[in-house]
Amino acid sequence: MYNIILTGFMGSGKTSVGIRLSYCMKCIFEDTDRIIERREKRSISEIFQTDGEAAFRKMETECLRELLDSGECRVLSVGGGLAVNPVNGPLLHKLGTIVYLEAEPATIYERLKGDATRPLLQTENPERAIRELMEQRRLAYERLADLTVRVDGLSVNEAADRILQALK
Ligand code: S3P
Repeated sequence: MYNIILTGFMGSGKTSVGIRLSYCMKCIFEDTDRIIERREKRSISEIFQTDGEAAFRKMETECLRELLDSGECRVLSVGGGLAVNPVNGPLLHKLGTIVYLEAEPATIYERLKGDATRPLLQTENPERAIRELMEQRRLAYERLADLTVRVDGLSVNEAADRILQALK
């Protein structure tokens, strides 16, 4: 099945780059967080608060299984923790080509400071939370990726162009 899957840390630009890519490739765009929110009729923050992170992780895997069944081709951006869950690796590979948007913690912090929608960053020191979580996840993102694009300093269009070039 041929989908382009965008992975990477929160704030790496998966959604905005994904929308641009889908426009260039004339295919649909989807985002696992938005699919889950639509289905649950509540926000990711509410899901974390009420059901906890483990329940959310199950919803992510369920969402991938359903996408595999649906057979449509698309650009898909996935939540920052989805790609590092080992259960999801084989499902993502079955879905298509995995593109990792790699960004420095400083870039992520600049983009996300003041953001209230990411439950994992609602801590006393979000900068440290970003650094620590990134350290834990970096290798998993790298290992899973078919293609890695560094997005520090790139605009959305530039990042999308790099991906299109590399996929040619
Ligand atoms: C998460 C990333 C978020 C969302 C949830 C958990 C994570 O998605 O799935 O807040 O564990 O990194 P984005 O990467 O789209 O922000």
